[in-house]
Amino acid sequence: MPLALMISCLLASFSTLAVCDDSLETCGAGCTLSAGSRGLLQIEKTMGNQKETTTSTTWASPYYMMTCPGTQAMTTQSMTEADYDNITAEIQALYNSLPSTCTPTECPQADWAGCVLRMAGHDFMDYKDGQGGADGCVDLTDADNLGLAECLFTGEFGISIADAYQHFCQSVSLADFLVIAAEAVMSASRQHVTLEDSSRSTIDFKSSFKFGRTTAKTCEWAHGRLPNPENSCSAVQETFVESMGLTWGQAAALMGVHTLGRAQIANSGYNGWWSSALMSRKFNNDYYVSILAKGWGPEVAVAGNAQKNQWKRVDAGANETGLGKEMMLNTDLCLAFTMDDAGTVELDAATAASAECKCTWGVPVAVSTATTKYEEGRFCGSTNIPGSSNFRQQRAICCGEEFDGRSDAAIDCGLPIDPKGPAYESIKKFANNEDAWLRVFKAAWRTATGNGFSLRRLRS
Ligand code: HEM
Ligand SMILES: *[C@@H]1O[C@H](CO)[C@@H](O)[C@H](O)[C@H]1NC(C)=O
Ligand SMILES: *[C@@H]1O[C@H](CO)[C@@H](O)[C@H](O)[C@H]1NC(C)=O
Repeated sequence: MPLALMISCLLASFSTLAVCDDSLETCGAGCTLSAGSRGLLQIEKTMGNQKETTTSTTWASPYYMMTCPGTQAMTTQSMTEADYDNITAEIQALYNSLPSTCTPTECPQADWAGCVLRMAGHDFMDYKDGQGGADGCVDLTDADNLGLAECLFTGEFGISIADAYQHFCQSVSLADFLVIAAEAVMSASRQHVTLEDSSRSTIDFKSSFKFGRTTAKTCEWAHGRLPNPENSCSAVQETFVESMGLTWGQAAALMGVHTLGRAQIANSGYNGWWSSALMSRKFNNDYYVSILAKGWGPEVAVAGNAQKNQWKRVDAGANETGLGKEMMLNTDLCLAFTMDDAGTVELDAATAASAECKCTWGVPVAVSTATTKYEEGRFCGSTNIPGSSNFRQQRAICCGEEFDGRSDAAIDCGLPIDPKGPAYESIKKFANNEDAWLRVFKAAWRTATGNGFSLRRLRS
């Protein structure tokens, strides 16, 4: 089946909860998806507007979707640094086979790396009370996981990590493999940063990697555990702080992964890159710089869907045709900003405008190191940054010329001189100091990918 057809088939089928088969030329309700030799296949039908799920003994998890020429290892028994390097090399070869070009609407390496990394994130974000974590299991028929099948096994730009897994599946669990694959794409995309600027730090995951995660074939209980972006910092608190045991600073550090890749209407219903398209294949602290050194305004009912509300870039530097569509989710911006000056009402795009919170921005002095070091001297898109005596003009470049009067204070989501989001101090630190972010990120990553398992170090 041609790739385009396959992908549209998947989108159509997963959104209607049907599962597809690549032996079919067309994909109506109840089509089936290739699951290798395992014979998974839960068929779920859409009849008219009604979804009807037929119960089945098997399940669309990554485990069932990966083929293995021999017996697939459920838990890795032993692993050396050379094994780790070998997997990394194969994943990076796949990544490097994609064009490195980026336009405002297309950046294949960003999309592919984003998908692989998001796969690992969706895997470990279901950890709670000793259950779940990085066990290689997500429910691929869950709408929250739309888009993951592509880089996993059906091929995004024709490439999937299933091709690499075949070579390691008899000794390395899928659960360990997905973590290593995510580390490999972060390292590869970090190289774009260090090649451009040798003063930036390299990132090393291998020295702290541990193996021994057991792959779960199914994980029904994970349903509904993934944080809903609409739920702002309540969702971050529930998932990252309460269930995964991270501090707010670590939660904020982990969220920096959104530097890579983007949101697509066909997958999540949200739309845009977390930064400019060109930046989105570079693993750097641009996410934090973007939160604080750009102005963001609510964008309600993305693509007409009232369930999907996000923030779009509104400052003087916003340029969708030139840079790509830039956006943030509630769960991103809530870390730094609240709706009100006191910090008691969490940020929420759906109700922001009516609550007189039309623009998130913070004063330039908070990120002056970041704008100098990482933004070529730009703040809210401008290199002509007004001083603190010209608050009015600062606001105008961040929130738009129409908001330049004293009476416009109500447009600000909290006080620009004192944002009150639960991780504001960390966001500010990470924006100004990339090394500080990388340090906290690595610790958060270790916790997130280790929760629920007792793991062992690689042998040299
Ligand atoms: C509160 C927590 C989080 C929420 C609400 C959230 C939400 C989202 C949404 C809505 C998308 C867009 C997906 C699409 O349309 O394709 C996305 C993409 C992404 N997420 Fe998250 N996410 C969260 C945490 C994480 C974590 C912890 C990771 C860790 C690895 C992660 C990695 C990614 C990546 C890399 C992408 C880009 C995907 C691509 O380009 O294909 N996210 N996230
Ligand atoms: C790495 O992989 C290649 C082929 O995929 C294999 O020949 C080689 O033995 C592997 N090296 C290690 C150290 O496992
Ligand atoms: C947007 O970007 C394009 C391409 O870089 C550029 O030609 C154009 O002048 C920019 N528009 C604005 C308003 O800055």
